[in-house]
Amino acid sequence: MEKVVALTKRRGFIYPSSEIYGGLSGFYDYGPYGVALKRAIRDLWWRHMVDLRDDVVGLESTLIMPSDVWAASGHLTNFVDPLRQCLGKCKKRWRADHVTGNTCPECGGELTEPRMFNLMFKTHVGPLEDEASEVYLRPETAQGMFVDFKNVINSSRVRVPFGIAQQGRAFRNEITPGNFVFRVREFELMEMEYFVRPNQDDEAFEYWRKERMRWFTEVLGVKPGHLRFYDHPQASLSHYSKQTTDIEYEFPFGWGELEGIADRTDFDLVVHQERSKQDLTYLDPETNERYLPWVIEPAVSVERIFITLLIDAYDEDVVNNEPRTLLRFHPNVAPVQVAVVPLSKKPELTGPAQNVIQALRGHFRVEYDQTGGNIGRRYRRQDEIGTPFCVTVDFETLNDQAVTIRHRDSTEQERVKIAELSSRLEALVG
Ligand code: GAP
Repeated sequence: MEKVVALTKRRGFIYPSSEIYGGLSGFYDYGPYGVALKRAIRDLWWRHMVDLRDDVVGLESTLIMPSDVWAASGHLTNFVDPLRQCLGKCKKRWRADHVTGNTCPECGGELTEPRMFNLMFKTHVGPLEDEASEVYLRPETAQGMFVDFKNVINSSRVRVPFGIAQQGRAFRNEITPGNFVFRVREFELMEMEYFVRPNQDDEAFEYWRKERMRWFTEVLGVKPGHLRFYDHPQASLSHYSKQTTDIEYEFPFGWGELEGIADRTDFDLVVHQERSKQDLTYLDPETNERYLPWVIEPAVSVERIFITLLIDAYDEDVVNNEPRTLLRFHPNVAPVQVAVVPLSKKPELTGPAQNVIQALRGHFRVEYDQTGGNIGRRYRRQDEIGTPFCVTVDFETLNDQAVTIRHRDSTEQERVKIAELSSRLEALVG
């Protein structure tokens, strides 16, 4: 884990938020390669959850929502963690389920009895800071889909079964953020509420468990041996859930939740219908029945996938008797898919190299690497950020109108005509 954290900082994937002011615990900024990786994750999720399907539509709802929403959804009373504070030297706060016994793991001081702590960030809308102006930063995007359910069914041609998908920021005042970006206080959720006929939840639940696992292994290239399903026992289910399966990843700190797939039944639509006093029922054109659909929800954050991909891809090996560090990213997610590296800085090579990258730009995530250092050092740098293919323009290129594709994983090289480069890379990147 320390090696991955060091690499991500060194190579500009991620920085602590507001670092020059000492940072803010549980908040991170993303640098150039981190942004590229996050965008790839987001785009692949949207592509497979929305664009490639005919039964899911998109939504963007606001980050700030009124108290009524959270009172109805149960978050005001149930979105709590048990908190214990150290009365000894360090005064640290702990999540009660993260400590055993009555003494502080840090300084051995006595711990208070657990008290419930609500994880939502509260703020006010308008100049008056009274109860009437209280609003919350959303801790999940899901409520937007339920609150807008009627708008979506009235304004689009969706028919049950169908889904509403959303990506966007969520905020949780976690008591103990940590394990890098595994648990942070500001993150980006990707959630899809899949509406089915009442009591027809089991089949959809099974489908989405399998489909989400397939996405991680086939589309993102996560090693199947590091993933497993964890079915929650009744006692650990969220207040809205009938059944939940987590897709877990084997992190260096143990198995941890990557994504949750929850069967929310009609819980949310029922409570919002009750509190808003609006009719949220759906008229099924096939059966002519009115009902509140049941919901299956796959939910995952970009950050959990981000840390998973980095850990899964991190590797060290030896090439030509020299140790090397590399990220074996699947080409789908690599921040740079193709780096173009002229063998020398001489204009007779940089000119053709610029032409090559111009032809690839827009089709692949590309980078031009003409920095100092021999070609081997530049390959190593690309290995470290996980670039699967380097295209080298050398002096021979001037004669044979061909370039070399160097493969990150095997370090093998192949000679390809410039005219065929795009289609060859297309085949390799997929
Ligand atoms: N709408 C359901 C929901 O929000 P959750 O299990 O609380 O369920 C869903 O969160 C997903 O969000 C998790 O599986 C995880 O991927 C991610 N997640 C939750 N808390 C997080 C945090 N503090 N930092 C980063 N990701 C988090």
